[in-house]
Amino acid sequence: MIISLCDDPQDVADLAAQRVTDLLLDQPRAVLGLPTGRTPILLYDLLAERHAAGTLDFSQVTTFNLDEFVGIGEDHPGSYRAYMRRYLFDRVNLPHGRGHVLDGLAADPDAECERFEEQIAAAGGLDLQVLGLGANGHIGFNEPADTLSARTHRVTLLEPSRRANAGFFGGDLAQVPTEAMTMGMGTILKSRRILLLVTGREKAEAVSAMINGPLTTQLPASFLQLHAQVEVICDGEAASGLR
Ligand code: GLP
Repeated sequence: MIISLCDDPQDVADLAAQRVTDLLLDQPRAVLGLPTGRTPILLYDLLAERHAAGTLDFSQVTTFNLDEFVGIGEDHPGSYRAYMRRYLFDRVNLPHGRGHVLDGLAADPDAECERFEEQIAAAGGLDLQVLGLGANGHIGFNEPADTLSARTHRVTLLEPSRRANAGFFGGDLAQVPTEAMTMGMGTILKSRRILLLVTGREKAEAVSAMINGPLTTQLPASFLQLHAQVEVICDGEAASGLR
């Protein structure tokens, strides 16, 4: 694991934007895995700015989002599809249909998860998976548990994760769906490169356990220790628990 230590969230976003830019210059047809949450918003702002300035082209790019809530669709402002449109898709020239987000309203969520896996495989797999980190060590919506799933699957969300998302639902926990679909641990680990963005003191414990602690299903991010091409880009607060 490479740990890149930055001063603050803006520097984390700057470095992440540089990584994505370098990849797209080198591989204009790259397949990206993308996260939602508060952490990547500054990154998406920078990618949109670079696109507007003419220095970043998404015309041949394909993207797959990590996860989506079950029971809400793209018309719901709290859905991750709506988030992606707001922060990235509507601001860059990613062709319609190349930004893949699981369909939260699919009649058969299990079949939807399988379809998603097949689409990733048909695209040639992920070149770069950008990740955020849950304060409880989740990645995507792979929550701490006795067992973890390899493939894209349906999950019941733990309350800390629902709370962390309440801001996207007007601060009302009751409005946050109780279920989601998420790429599995195997889906994420199969990506050729992984970029994990972490900011803020509330993530410090998870960062330290992920890097220095044992591999455990109780901290899904610890499995990133098994991947040969992981860069963790974190600010000083997130790194404050590291030895
Ligand atoms: C969310 C998402 C994750 C995200 C994480 C951190 O619930 N499912 O993909 O990376 O939790 O979110 P935030 O960046 O808001 O702390």
